[in-house]
Amino acid sequence: MSNIQGKVVIITGASSGIGEATAKELASKGARLVLAARREDRLQKLQQEIQSKGGQAVYKVTDVTSYEQMEELAQFALKEFGKIDVLVNNAGLMPLSPLYQKKIDEWDRMIDVNIKGVLYGIAAVLPSMRERKEGHIINMSSIAGHLIGPAGSVYSGTKFAVRAITEGLRKEEFANNIRTTIISPGAVSTELTETITDLELKSAIDEIYKGAIDAESIARAIAFAIEQPSDVAINEMIIRPTRQEL
Ligand SMILES: NC(=O)c1ccc[n+]([C@@H]2O[C@H](COP(=O)([O-])OP(=O)(O)OC[C@H]3O[C@@H](n4cnc5c(N)ncnc54)[C@H](OP(=O)(O)O)[C@@H]3O)[C@@H](O)[C@H]2O)c1
Repeated sequence: MSNIQGKVVIITGASSGIGEATAKELASKGARLVLAARREDRLQKLQQEIQSKGGQAVYKVTDVTSYEQMEELAQFALKEFGKIDVLVNNAGLMPLSPLYQKKIDEWDRMIDVNIKGVLYGIAAVLPSMRERKEGHIINMSSIAGHLIGPAGSVYSGTKFAVRAITEGLRKEEFANNIRTTIISPGAVSTELTETITDLELKSAIDEIYKGAIDAESIARAIAFAIEQPSDVAINEMIIRPTRQEL
């Protein structure tokens, strides 16, 4: 039997891309899912698809930039399933631009979703995980959390922050038997590049993304981290397209 069977997993950003693929992968291995994002129609459709294949999923419309809503999401998971085994802090956006363009609103959104959203998720699930002395928090960084390119200063800043926060969390909580995993994908074919508002830059990035791998590749890596025995922590994974240099 898979070690994923019966685990209660909250996934943020479950309405598309990596989050959606992860939900399907984990549902097929018997996880009980709590799907979160802002687009309710997408969450509903995903829930129905999972249920039609015999999987278990509930959803809650959640904006990760609201601590209140993240707290409500954790309480919802506890009410529905009685525990939280795993949080996949996946929601994120990547509106790349050079700093001189001063796209302040986009910087703020990246910081709010990519960093604060991750922190709020951790804050919402930690109390119950600490009480049970069991849990697993998986945070989505990026290859941009290891490398910095032009137009990627703020995005990379947020993804470096995710790695720093996750490693700090590991040092604080390993003794409480709480596992942490940093996932750093290279180019993955999703809706992520749609958040780039500079059209010239977007077409250059879309060119790189022609070599992107599918979201299921990252879903399988997440499943691998979750399905390890509880005394084994996969703390960090980089998953690139084989043909990606950066
Ligand atoms: N694709 C790649 O090449 C790649 C590479 C490295 C890392 N990543 C990371 O992977 C993660 C998932 O991205 P993706 O590639 O799957 O892109 P995606 O298809 O655009 O998915 C992004 C998800 O985040 C959710 N989201 C955005 N803002 C939100 C908010 N305020 N509250 C709740 N949910 C929010 C979106 O749902 P709603 O709009 O419905 O809220 C959506 O489900 C991101 O953290 C991204 O940085 C992706």
